[in-house]
Amino acid sequence: DMGGHDTYMHKEISEQPDAVDRVLRGRIDDRFSTVHLGGLNLDPREARGIRRVKILGCGTSYHAGLIGASLIEGMARIPADAEPASEFRYRNPVVDPDTLYIAVSQSGETYDVLAAVQELKRKGARVLGVVNVVGSAIAREADGGVYVHAGPEVCVVSTKCFTNTVVAFALLAVHLGRIRDLSVTDGKRIIEGLRRLPAQIEEILKGEEDIKELAAQYADAKSMMFIGRVRGYPVALEASLKLKEISYIHAEAYPASELKHGPLALIEPAMPTVAIVPDDDLLEKNRAALEEIKARSGRILAVAHREQEKADHTIIVPKNEDELDPILMGIPLQLLAYHTALALGRDIDKPRNLAKSVTVE
Ligand code: F6R
Repeated sequence: DMGGHDTYMHKEISEQPDAVDRVLRGRIDDRFSTVHLGGLNLDPREARGIRRVKILGCGTSYHAGLIGASLIEGMARIPADAEPASEFRYRNPVVDPDTLYIAVSQSGETYDVLAAVQELKRKGARVLGVVNVVGSAIAREADGGVYVHAGPEVCVVSTKCFTNTVVAFALLAVHLGRIRDLSVTDGKRIIEGLRRLPAQIEEILKGEEDIKELAAQYADAKSMMFIGRVRGYPVALEASLKLKEISYIHAEAYPASELKHGPLALIEPAMPTVAIVPDDDLLEKNRAALEEIKARSGRILAVAHREQEKADHTIIVPKNEDELDPILMGIPLQLLAYHTALALGRDIDKPRNLAKSVTVE
């Protein structure tokens, strides 16, 4: 049942305010400015003993894991990174007892992730799951975890589950942070930011008509560049994947700082750039990248907290705490991919060559 929407993708994008509300519900503890996660199976002493966090996933879940790693490293001050599960599995990684491994999967059935979990468990590692489908293979195999509560995701490409997974990581980061060195004040600041998300997502969704018009202007592109810096980079990766999957327009994502080391050679009017430009400590650096692109006659669509004069168009999103901005900046880009694909007449819910869960190697 599409509930009045033309596609499941549109329905699922629109459901995000409610979905985010669900992942937060019952988990916030205002008294200690922290977060309770019932299924973690990790006591405070164990949480303090973690020396590293390694996040494993595929596709969109890997991108959510990249943001998750920066949230955990930033708030809990534990070195954290994310890696595609299959790459991890085949490079014979050092498995360390003081590392917390986290497997991320919407379906909970992705073979490469499941196999990585099984290999880790066999070697005695502790593995948590950040999973949407309750009781799925990865959820059962993990020692504990966080359910993402996005509700059923029918469209092959992931949207609401990406957003909810990142929110689940923010909850985990506050939880681990408050056991370690995150102050009460910062815990409270992030919790208040999380509570603002549903209404802010609602506000972004209200801008859909404008995004649709922009999509019509960029749908003629042969290829698109997506750039972001530090926490904006995984947003660029995910937006680029979404566009590729459903519109079949070639896209690539680069850290903005890497442009000058090669890809600037590609910039010309036929290759527009989507730039993630949050109002944070890197704003001036990001603006410099826009200038470099403009100097080469590149078209620029910025996603920002205020109008960017170097950009041809700016999609303005509401500001949250710096740490949580990536969650909001991803949402207009789901709509951009959606309307680009629609303008090109693509079968949005069933893109060619893709399956909802990839249960083969
Ligand atoms: C992208 C997409 C895929 C999945 C990937 C992992 O829109 O849907 O890239 O994210 O196949 O799937 P899960 O999260 O079910 O493990």
